[in-house]
Amino acid sequence: MKMTTPPICNYEDSDYQDTFWEAGGRDYEDAVEAVAINRLMPRSGSRLLELGAGAGRNSSRYRGFQQVTLLDYSHSQLERARDRLRCTQDPGNEYRFVAADIYRLPFAPGVFDAATMIRTLHHLSEPVSALLQVRRVLQPEAVFILEYANKHNLKSILRYLFRLQKWSPFTREPVEFVKLNYDFHPAAVRSWLDEAGFVLERQLTVSHFRIGLFKKVLPLKLLVWMDSTAQLTGDWWQMSPSVFTRSHTTQDGAPAAKVAFFACPACGEPLADTPPLIICPACGKQYPVEDCIYDFRLTQNS
Ligand SMILES: C[S@@+](CC[C@H](N)C(=O)[O-])C[C@H]1O[C@@H](n2cnc3c(N)ncnc32)[C@H](O)[C@@H]1O
Repeated sequence: MKMTTPPICNYEDSDYQDTFWEAGGRDYEDAVEAVAINRLMPRSGSRLLELGAGAGRNSSRYRGFQQVTLLDYSHSQLERARDRLRCTQDPGNEYRFVAADIYRLPFAPGVFDAATMIRTLHHLSEPVSALLQVRRVLQPEAVFILEYANKHNLKSILRYLFRLQKWSPFTREPVEFVKLNYDFHPAAVRSWLDEAGFVLERQLTVSHFRIGLFKKVLPLKLLVWMDSTAQLTGDWWQMSPSVFTRSHTTQDGAPAAKVAFFACPACGEPLADTPPLIICPACGKQYPVEDCIYDFRLTQNS
């Protein structure tokens, strides 16, 4: 039977980490995201899932967790992450690397007590389906930190008012500014979180001063301080290009699975963790594990 899933924005072999972050003059964006993460993250926990982890830019920021699972569709991004973080199985300092589609998460219900999704929702054409998947693999009362690109930002509001932009920043529908790159309205994201079973606790507006001139003339420390202060208005209004939210799951849902961590992304059957090859006892699909990277990718729509 064919299961259709939405298209994936593929970062395979992309030089995103080098060109965008390391050579791209993004120290300010990286630093203010670190401030937001630090404000929102629980200080400790057991299993955290990082969705759309890329090359692991943020992964070491989750150091209070015993185990961090980096999930991304791009195998090459995960290789970068693995080389940066090293594949360790030491209790209390364990990273796992999983190549998979967010729309078909290969985990048993309720196995994580926290999840983050940063700079990734903006690639998803069906955000509610993705959020329902995240909800499924989280325990009741788990924490979820979600970042999204905000269409209701000051620049797009001014451009719209001065008729330099056709689409309205005030309406709830997503704007796809490049194929599979979306900006979302804060009210829409809040309603999707609610629909998927999350209770919103806090919002931080981030990257208020993402303007070339500011970044050129103002010292980084000052810019970061200014943004850190402005972030605190995030529950009142959201007019920055990036918004971080902290939510928790409701009481209902599966408690952490005792037996299986993984589940077949094709049929949902619990899977034993048997590297170098995991075979689904129900549907027979095979998933290789090579150099610490579990590969649960299915060909699209198989
Ligand atoms: C802009 S990068 C962000 C990486 C990282 N979170 C960061 O902030 O540095 C987005 C990442 O999401 C991943 N991604 C996009 N769609 C995905 C999907 N459907 N399933 C899994 N990963 C996906 C891409 O492969 C890419 O690595």
